[in-house]
Amino acid sequence: MKPERLKIIVTRPIPGELCDEISRNRPELDIVCRPQDAPINGDELIEWINAEKPYGVVITLAEKFPDNIISKLPESVKAISTIAVGKDNIDQNACDNRGIKVFNTPDVLTNATADLTWALILAASRRIVEGHKMCADDKFVGWSPTLLMGKELTGATIGIVGMGRIGSAVAKRAFGFNMKVAYFNRNPIQDISSKFPGIDHSSLPKYMAIDDLCAQSDVITLHCPLNDASFHLLNEARLNSCRHDAALVNMARGPVVDETALIKSLKAGRFMGVGLDVYENEPNINPELKNFDRVTLLPHIGSATIETRWKMMRLSINAILETVNK
Ligand code: GLV
Repeated sequence: MKPERLKIIVTRPIPGELCDEISRNRPELDIVCRPQDAPINGDELIEWINAEKPYGVVITLAEKFPDNIISKLPESVKAISTIAVGKDNIDQNACDNRGIKVFNTPDVLTNATADLTWALILAASRRIVEGHKMCADDKFVGWSPTLLMGKELTGATIGIVGMGRIGSAVAKRAFGFNMKVAYFNRNPIQDISSKFPGIDHSSLPKYMAIDDLCAQSDVITLHCPLNDASFHLLNEARLNSCRHDAALVNMARGPVVDETALIKSLKAGRFMGVGLDVYENEPNINPELKNFDRVTLLPHIGSATIETRWKMMRLSINAILETVNK
């Protein structure tokens, strides 16, 4: 008997070779990619999915699936898979109520994201972009004992907000810099030593309440999911409690930091440097953030290595396929 066709639609173009690779073992599979590499949302999104009537929808973090979109999906849709670890753009309860399975791409992006975190930590603490600009603008006139002095990482304290997979990978890299590691999670991790084999008990990451972490860390780096509890976790009071020369990095989601308060804090001279990969109103970046030489801005590319993005795309499609009996 001819197998029934199985349709998976993808909101963005993905490499044809990857679709071919996945389809090879699933001849009944049709993968349809939207040709535009731009977000699709609201009515347009609903119309497109209703026209395609797929079994699965592969999306990105820029497409929003709140309750009022989920409720208008065709009956055919049984799974949504996002090419991301964060699922804050999908209303999980609404999907549960409709019996739609939701998948994301944890693990495969951990190292790429942790590596880029360190690029931003170094940029924020060692004034890398300022230095580049000085050279590119022909303003480097020779070595000076006081030129672009930054912050020493060796021996400093890094405060990691969200000690999940990515936070832990950032912590492992921090040991290489001989840093003291503190962390904040909703709850302290019971068996922290099992996450860090080979690390001496006295060097294991220490739990701190968020207020203490903000006040005591030399480097603060954010890796928690966005939810009601983490919205504006770094509010005005906490930002103003940070050390004057702290470096702050946000790799989580923009709204974890109150961006207006951050700008105020920067204007008041706080922070040695700030590195942002995410923004409150993404992809719009508050123009005021662009006025500070000590703020390094990246366009949400934490996981953007060739190897990792292929793994993410492959995983997001395969997760849907695994819900279907061969
Ligand atoms: C990126 O921010 C992701 O959630 O994968």
